[in-house]
Amino acid sequence: MKVYTKISDLRTDLFKEKAAGKTIGFVPTMGYLHEGHASLMDQARKENDVVVLSIFVNPLQFGPKEDFASYPRDFERDKQVAVNHGVDYIFHPAAEEMYPTKPSVIAVVKDRTDVLCGTSRPGHFDGVATVLTKLFNIVLPNRVYFGLKDAQQVAVVDGLVNDYNFPIEIVPVPTVREEDGLAKSSRNVNLLPEERKQAPAIYQALKIAERAIDTGEKDPDSLVKIVESHINENTDGIVDYIEIYSYPELKVIEQVNGKIIIAVAVRFSKVRLIDNLIIQL
Ligand code: PAF
Repeated sequence: MKVYTKISDLRTDLFKEKAAGKTIGFVPTMGYLHEGHASLMDQARKENDVVVLSIFVNPLQFGPKEDFASYPRDFERDKQVAVNHGVDYIFHPAAEEMYPTKPSVIAVVKDRTDVLCGTSRPGHFDGVATVLTKLFNIVLPNRVYFGLKDAQQVAVVDGLVNDYNFPIEIVPVPTVREEDGLAKSSRNVNLLPEERKQAPAIYQALKIAERAIDTGEKDPDSLVKIVESHINENTDGIVDYIEIYSYPELKVIEQVNGKIIIAVAVRFSKVRLIDNLIIQL
């Protein structure tokens, strides 16, 4: 496995792989790799000749009051995880390499962002779309792997790839969970011990809503209340949103029908957790 910090060096070697007819699977991350990332790397490994992992905590997608500075980082550990999961190339640029000057062009995401995290994180998806546009142009992957834990990100990237005509297949990978149901996230380390005990209530609440749908509840507002009361009764977290939309369009629905997403964000003292269930009816 090789580690690159310079765009030009990575490009030179990836051009050679492409010229040799190799397919490239790309896993973009912000590091502090966990089993959710591992499942992306494993799937990329199965489906491509070459696997590229990027580790870059992208300042552009963090708001001024967000956790850019405290976002967990451990490159040496990440390198070992990447080796264990068959990554061929790690791209680990400094911010100055990715943004040597203040960007003169920013991708502005126009759809699928006026809901969920888009409303509480203004500019976040513009930062994601901008860095991914750069990374896609640097890596030129055949396939790119994203976790469905951030289902809105998957929907936004789907729009980016279609609108900008990137010849890339998006591969959405199901959320990996702890044994107690908590969705794996780099941010979980920032939960206080008591909060860590409470956090599985988020997924429990989603599953309770799913069962309610199975037994005939079709009203989005009633389902939101079911999720909300379980989280409020079982955690000290503050609900940021609980929303139900069609998926991947992320449009408001009158009745639960077709493919839908129930998505939740909950603020704990030092961290905000998101989770969702995508249900096909
Ligand atoms: O999901 C993430 O870790 C980031 O949003 C991504 C896709 C790597 C872009 O910085």
